Amino acid sequence: MLTVALPKGELLQNSIRLLQSVGLDFSAFLDSKMRQLQITDASGQAKGLLVRGQDVPVYVEYGQAQLGIIGYDVLREKKPQVAHLVDLGFGYCRMSVAVKASSAYKSPLDLPAHGRVASKYVNCAREYFHSLDIPIEIIPLYGSVELGPITGMSEAIVDIVSTGRTLQENGLIEITTLYESTARLIGHPLSYRLNTGNMHQVVEKLRQEVSLIAV
Ligand code: PRP
Repeated sequence: MLTVALPKGELLQNSIRLLQSVGLDFSAFLDSKMRQLQITDASGQAKGLLVRGQDVPVYVEYGQAQLGIIGYDVLREKKPQVAHLVDLGFGYCRMSVAVKASSAYKSPLDLPAHGRVASKYVNCAREYFHSLDIPIEIIPLYGSVELGPITGMSEAIVDIVSTGRTLQENGLIEITTLYESTARLIGHPLSYRLNTGNMHQVVEKLRQEVSLIAV
């Protein structure tokens, strides 16, 4: 049987809607009173696992899920050994460097040498500043990174921007974008090669559904 790892949070609703369109119904995960983390879809064809977004590639990498849905931002940060199968189009956001709107920094190149940058995406932040040859200290945080510059703990942040409201409401502005991100369908490479649980058919149906939505 095919197992699909689904991310809690922002991407869940669209992920479930998309899977429903190809006949896999995991809508029970949208019931906030439901506490089950593994369910079988109504047709009995597939199992769904409800996991933290960052853990989706872990289940797929270890082959406990043959398919998973997760943001490109997480794939870029963690670089898991998984097959990147389909760009699903939803969940758009971008990875940006942001500073206090009142600061003099107009570009990452203006940041002081050995300045501090707070981020949940430490690898991404480190790689970016390394590529610019700017020595900086990365401060790893788990959330609310906007508080870094607000409190004076860091000069800048590297973080996800979606609507831009969080930056705006906290007096921060983007000074550059590192990359753009959308939700991706990922697969366990060996299972994909072996077509476990007839996953080629499901992937192809999802690819077609996404291309129809994009038209
Ligand atoms: C993410 C991100 C920003 C916010 C951006 O945080 O880290 O804080 O969303 O969204 P916006 O541009 O639409 O305002 P998340 O909601 O995951 O919370 P966290 O900071 O606690 O991780």
